[in-house]
Amino acid sequence: MVFPGMPVTLPVDVGADDRVLLVPTHDRTYAKVGIIAEVSERVRLAGRGFVVSLTGLHRATLGAATADADGVLRVDHQPHPDQVPAPVATREIEREYRAVVDEILELRGDDGRIRAFVRSITDAGALADTAGYSPDFSFAQKVQLLETLDVVERLTLALQFQRDRLAELQVRKRIRDDVEDGTQKQQREYFLRKQMDAIRKELGESDGSVVDEYRKKIADAGMPDVVRQQADRELDRLERMGDSNAEASMLRTYLDWLLSVPWNRRSDDRLDPGHARDVLDDDHEGLDDVKRRITEYLAVRKLRTDRGMAETRRSGVILTLIGPPGTGKTSIGESIARATGRQFVRMSLGGVRDEAEIRGHRRTYIGALPGRLVRALRDAGTMNPVIMLDEVDKLGADWRGDPSAALLEVLDPAQNHSFRDHYLDVELDLSHVLFVATANVADTIPSALFDRMEIIRFDGYTTQEKVAIARGHLWPRQVERNGLRADEVTISDDVLQLVIADYTREAGVRQLERELGKLLRKSATRVASAEQTTPIVINEAAVRDGLGRAKVFHEAATRTTVPGVATGLAVTGVGGDVLFVEAASMPGKGGLVLTGQLGDVMKESARIALTYVKSHASDLGIDENALEGRELHVHVPAGATPKDGPSAGITMVTAIASLLSHRPVKSTVGMTGEVTLQGRVLPIGGLKQKILAAHAAGLTEVIVPDRNAPDLDDVPSDVRDRMRFHIVQSVDQVLAIALELVEVAAAA
Ligand SMILES: Nc1ncnc2c1ncn2[C@@H]1O[C@H](COP(=O)(O)OP(=O)(O)OP(=O)(O)O)[C@@H](O)[C@H]1O
Ligand SMILES: [Mg+2]
Repeated sequence: MVFPGMPVTLPVDVGADDRVLLVPTHDRTYAKVGIIAEVSERVRLAGRGFVVSLTGLHRATLGAATADADGVLRVDHQPHPDQVPAPVATREIEREYRAVVDEILELRGDDGRIRAFVRSITDAGALADTAGYSPDFSFAQKVQLLETLDVVERLTLALQFQRDRLAELQVRKRIRDDVEDGTQKQQREYFLRKQMDAIRKELGESDGSVVDEYRKKIADAGMPDVVRQQADRELDRLERMGDSNAEASMLRTYLDWLLSVPWNRRSDDRLDPGHARDVLDDDHEGLDDVKRRITEYLAVRKLRTDRGMAETRRSGVILTLIGPPGTGKTSIGESIARATGRQFVRMSLGGVRDEAEIRGHRRTYIGALPGRLVRALRDAGTMNPVIMLDEVDKLGADWRGDPSAALLEVLDPAQNHSFRDHYLDVELDLSHVLFVATANVADTIPSALFDRMEIIRFDGYTTQEKVAIARGHLWPRQVERNGLRADEVTISDDVLQLVIADYTREAGVRQLERELGKLLRKSATRVASAEQTTPIVINEAAVRDGLGRAKVFHEAATRTTVPGVATGLAVTGVGGDVLFVEAASMPGKGGLVLTGQLGDVMKESARIALTYVKSHASDLGIDENALEGRELHVHVPAGATPKDGPSAGITMVTAIASLLSHRPVKSTVGMTGEVTLQGRVLPIGGLKQKILAAHAAGLTEVIVPDRNAPDLDDVPSDVRDRMRFHIVQSVDQVLAIALELVEVAAAA
């Protein structure tokens, strides 16, 4: 089809005429519009006939036609040149049209020539006619374009065609890309394998096929017989299949995994308690109790092994280290590995909610892989490593299966010599693995697991212990890490203590190590840029300069100046902490408002506390009508953290009693204990962690329930010596100790 501006060469005889009318026809019907074309050249061919070159000029509508005397068809017509300049309305459509065409050309990989051509066309009508060049449009579409005389209409129509075209091209490209991705990967693998074979041949290495190579590896792997048979079976399948199809690559992956298990490799187990203790002492400061328990555990294992006693359900309890972050649980696990001469692998269970994570997926699933245990064994490279099950308290369970059930099997000595991973589908002997678990808190450990655990608690460190840890471990490590030598930079114990007190608030030492790292980085920079000569002494000024203003404040003194605020002690996932209970009253209909994200148990404590105070008002020197027409509000700040548990009971009583009696609470006193309606004080958990937190927060007296008194033995002596403990049985004792004697006038 010819459009205006288009040159064509046709083998026709046009006689002497300068102009012809070209009309497209299909099935003997003529289009209603034709093109007037000008003859630019005519050539008589050597044989007979002519060839003429024509250039389309403009459109014309057709009228009646008659044949003249020479048999040439003469047509009445009405010329329709495009309106120039085109109506303003075309501007917007024109821009859009060019953009769409550009994108099509981009997709088709135009080298720029067509784009330049389209750009050279300035008339809107002519621009629409460029669609006539496109091989993508059908005859009918082109006729439609031809027959549209109005420029605006024609350009709109052409735009619509091009848009459809673009959409189609985009879909096609996407499909092609997807398919290519898949096939390319396979092809690539295929070619790489071929190349590998070629390279091997070149190097004169065994030119045996892949299958031979697997056969050799399987023979050397020292697999148990059953596994060996399974491996051979799969290898035979691979051989029959040939190397180039997709299933073959799945089989190879499977064989690779099977071979990655260190079937016959074991490190020499060293179960010498004395040596173990030495290693533990080398790596960790303090933790005396922990080290003793670990040594005992290893001693018992040794004895049982020496005497050939089989592991039973009861004997194989799992060592579980529970405590706040940064207290050395993971790192003591590594020490256990070192002490026993085993490899160490850490397996983080945090957020694992799917049994398949532990046991793997069956091979029938696409992309199936073995579970974490198989991977751990591969990483260890031996069948008797120490595997640390980190964060067992953060295991989840949902519809995908309960991972703790799988773990239970893994940890059960009666079953774990024949553990079956879904993917490998052969039996693995895990009975020589030494499992050590860690957790931050005990209460979220699945109870079936908890039953089988031997719990060792890490309660956190005192300031003095932290100084020792910093001196012996953190400081030397950070000095080295920052490229300095031990004699180039020094710090005194007092300054270490300052860093601990003013810049860290934690049970463990992780923050402390970070802060020391920060200080040393600054020193290293100075040394490197020759700003300071060594040796550098890090003193208080250097600490303030390097770490900025103190980050931790001891609030108890300021918080408790007004009546109604009492200092309690709590244990959270990150260790012990002090918490303030605030009470206030305001005009209202009576009743109790509780805020601070309190759990149900804690809310009940508040109710009990209020009831107790009301019923003992006169004994406490409180006006019977103090709450008449008033509403009581109890708040436990740090409102964003949820809190629960009964151990804030006496703190709540104290806060309410303090408010109503106008006697402030002593700022040096911290307390913990559950309370009953009769005013008895019941014991609580985590006393050591609470006391350490109280000490770190600058409190000097702690009120402790009578039945917790024996727990005070666990508190390190340097802390115990510096604090006063009040052992109490009832709330009136608590109030006698906690409330200031002088009655101060209400601030208002
Ligand atoms: N008693 C200690 N002696 C020497 N270094 C210690 C001691 N306690 C902790 N550390 C060091 O503190 C760092 C943090 O300890 P680790 O990573 O073992 O903490 P964690 O108890 O596993 O904490 P989380 O619960 O957050 O996993 C380690 O570098 C460790 O070596
Ligand atoms: Mg850890």
